[in-house]
Amino acid sequence: MKGNGVRHFLDLSEIPAEELRRVLDFSKDLKARRKAGEPVEKPLAGKSLAMVFDKPSTRTRVSFDLAMRQLGGETIMLTGQEMQLGRGETIADTARVLSRFVDAIMIRILDHDDLTELAKYATVPVINGLTRISHPCQVMADVMTFEEHRGPITGRSVAWTGDANNVLASWVHAADRFDFTLKVATPKELSPRQALKDFVKRTKAKVKFMRDPEEAVEGVDCVITDTWVSMGDKEAERRHNILKPYQVNSALMARADKDAIFMHCLPAHRGEEVTDVVMDGPQSVVFDEAENRLHAQKGVLAWCFDAVGG
Ligand code: CP
Ligand code: NVA
Repeated sequence: MKGNGVRHFLDLSEIPAEELRRVLDFSKDLKARRKAGEPVEKPLAGKSLAMVFDKPSTRTRVSFDLAMRQLGGETIMLTGQEMQLGRGETIADTARVLSRFVDAIMIRILDHDDLTELAKYATVPVINGLTRISHPCQVMADVMTFEEHRGPITGRSVAWTGDANNVLASWVHAADRFDFTLKVATPKELSPRQALKDFVKRTKAKVKFMRDPEEAVEGVDCVITDTWVSMGDKEAERRHNILKPYQVNSALMARADKDAIFMHCLPAHRGEEVTDVVMDGPQSVVFDEAENRLHAQKGVLAWCFDAVGG
């Protein structure tokens, strides 16, 4: 999205498909060159990124920090409680101030309206590092991982089983942008938000919402799940009870295509949404997926600075 003439990376639904494809191509190319030991230029030399975390993170924090540094830039790590944000300074003023210091802001904050408010008042690119509503940077790494293992995602089939959470929302956006089929099995009590269903109707994305996880995974190329209790969620015990039938285990994986892969954004809760046998089994690509956060986040950063070329 270009708000205030600035490239924000807030949601996959706001960025044209060709742009997302350029980001992935750039990410894949940088990864290949790094693996081959080839020197990579530093397109973000002299640039700085503020990383604001109002919630915990391992992958997002490490991948953005390293991505920025490996592209020649530098980072500043800030947590909500250490900032005046934690004492009531407004999001708008925080955006105005940070924009005077740094060249881009990546933020993890649960309230999606806070993210959009930050982007509205920032005069530098803002990147969504996860809100309660979406997690677009994760799904860029996920699509990259799918394509490494199974080839182009366009026209393929993917199943989601479990909670209709932030990661799922970004997968729904990706189904539209990258044109693949997504079958989503969630319990009635934890169904997708109306806005996400409206997005599917409006865009005619090939997304099918259903209840039965066995029906969802039948013959698909990829099975995905995520935690049953996301950051900020209450009623953990109730969620566990409702989501138990949505666990990804060997019996469920056996219904997918024989070459299907298993993905999970991590952190996983082993024995809950996924069994050890699946997590550690031959179909699991979860650690490739984690690694690809680094490569995909380079693409996202470079795109924000209009440096992906092509
Ligand atoms: N997948 C993901 O975003 O992980 P972190 O919470 O560790 O950043
Ligand atoms: N859905 C999870 C993803 C964590 C990376 C959460 O929001 O906690």
